[in-house]
Amino acid sequence: MCGIVGYIGKRQAQPLLLGCLGRLEYRGYDSCGIAILGSSTEVYKDAVRVKELEKASPQFTGTAGIAHTRWAPHGEPSRINAHPHCDCTGKIAVVHNGVIQNYQQLRQQLTSEGHNLVSETDTEVIPHLIEKYYNGDLEKAVAAALREIEGSYAIIVSMTGEPALVVARRDSPLIIGIGDRENFIASDVPAILDHTNMVKYLEDGDIAVITPDKVIVRSGGVEIDREEHKILWSVEDAQKAGYEHFMLKEIHEQPRVIRDTLGGYISAPEPVTDLALPGTTDSKNTLILACGTSYHAALVGKYVIEQLAKTPVRAELASEFNYSGQASAGDRAIVITQSGETADALKAIKRLKDEGCRVIVITNVVGSTASRLADHIVYTRAGPEISVAATKSFIAQLIVLYWLALPYSTADVRKRGNQIRGLRQLPVKVQQVLDDDTPIMECARYLSGFDNVFFIGRGINYPVALEGALKLKEISYIHAEGYAAGELKHGPFALLGSGTPVVAIASPDNTYETMLTNIKEVKARHSPVIALAAEGDDIIGELADSVITVPQVDPIFSPVVNTVALQLLAYYTAKERDCSIDFPRNLAKSVTVE
Ligand code: F6R
Repeated sequence: MCGIVGYIGKRQAQPLLLGCLGRLEYRGYDSCGIAILGSSTEVYKDAVRVKELEKASPQFTGTAGIAHTRWAPHGEPSRINAHPHCDCTGKIAVVHNGVIQNYQQLRQQLTSEGHNLVSETDTEVIPHLIEKYYNGDLEKAVAAALREIEGSYAIIVSMTGEPALVVARRDSPLIIGIGDRENFIASDVPAILDHTNMVKYLEDGDIAVITPDKVIVRSGGVEIDREEHKILWSVEDAQKAGYEHFMLKEIHEQPRVIRDTLGGYISAPEPVTDLALPGTTDSKNTLILACGTSYHAALVGKYVIEQLAKTPVRAELASEFNYSGQASAGDRAIVITQSGETADALKAIKRLKDEGCRVIVITNVVGSTASRLADHIVYTRAGPEISVAATKSFIAQLIVLYWLALPYSTADVRKRGNQIRGLRQLPVKVQQVLDDDTPIMECARYLSGFDNVFFIGRGINYPVALEGALKLKEISYIHAEGYAAGELKHGPFALLGSGTPVVAIASPDNTYETMLTNIKEVKARHSPVIALAAEGDDIIGELADSVITVPQVDPIFSPVVNTVALQLLAYYTAKERDCSIDFPRNLAKSVTVE
């Protein structure tokens, strides 16, 4: 996610802002830049690290300025797309976090009015709109520009000759750090904690005018006093936004991640150019390839596309496909990779392209190698994932897969409408899982005492069992196996007993009754059972030893709520065992060897 910082005061702004940007590096970024307000506005930016920017940038003189780390949502990482962005005169500079949904219309309109927009970003429309409305009052021009914008933003605006910075927010965080005859602005507390621990949090719709001595906040044109808060966290704590680990923070970000991913791509689900599923236009195959957690998303994707579009799909491990898988010219392949750098996924993409397949890449990282190799890219909007264990990127991948599949749904109009509504309700449902984590913590305390655990699921929740087991083993070091519930009796039964708990996913779909039978079989072998069931299930409590309840959703979306519950189960179990949760032993965030 992008980071923004601003400063106005008595010190030279350039070194101070670069230091603040360095404090935001942990969030991940692909480019950065600064604008310093002296007798003119001086901008320096590039697709480089903050340290490199510091070395390469000329020394600018000025005691006010703005700065940005960009994590490209669209528009490749490049000097031209990096922030700050300026108007035609070069006097107005803007840094922005968020997504402007109607930027294409605004861009066309501004271009037809003679504005020269040079980047591929949505942000660049903002300085040009401000230029258009500027009539001697920067705050009014910002307010007028923002009235035209649909979407989310946290912005800082500077203008040559203006003694103040103007900032505003909607659906993107922005704080003001209060200093002694100097003030700071940032998207995140860690950016400014070296300088002040007194902050005001802006609310949606606020516009503030900031000078070295004053902060004037207005909401709806009326001046308003936003309370000052003292931050008691260290910089490291602040980077985790108060959560003990990045993993927990990232799990809790998931309602926002779903909203952002849907907001970025779905006005109404529309077919993706190049996807055209088999059965709809021709007889070519559809393959989904990935590794690790992304492979579990691929398996859910297989079920989703098969159920919605009633057409066969193959999901394979990229590492296996590379040696034995088959693909033919014209086949459509979806490769899922959070990092876009996983060696096996890249090798698969190259092979698919050599075979003449069309390759759609689902990735979280703009400009990654996978995105550069793809014929068609679909970005997840999870934001940078710091914790080695993938959580929010998996959920974002599922959301993209639903979006890819929904246009091909064979359901009638009413059912399809319900499915789209169900998808949009997921942030609220996930929030319910996050809010109701006490039973999950209790189950985690119990599980933490065992050395072996089975996770069982059926149908669309079989991959969720695999993912639940993977999360548990990688961060808690408990040996965990994910199994298709029907397969337990074909071997693993030999391992069941009072020392081997089973986590059973019992979602209310066409597999439910059989899952109840499987739970009874497991109980008969004395294995303790933790059931993951939907709200309103009155039967499961009589069979299982403990129940984790998740909200009711359309069965096709059950992997989302179930996975979030299992992520929390793994997290709290690992915490009980005092493990290195964010950086588990022997693991790397990006696996660049085969
Ligand atoms: C598990 C995990 C890994 C990755 C796998 C693929 O929590 O993070 O299993 O899912 O290494 O990585 P990407 O998606 O970057 O290709």
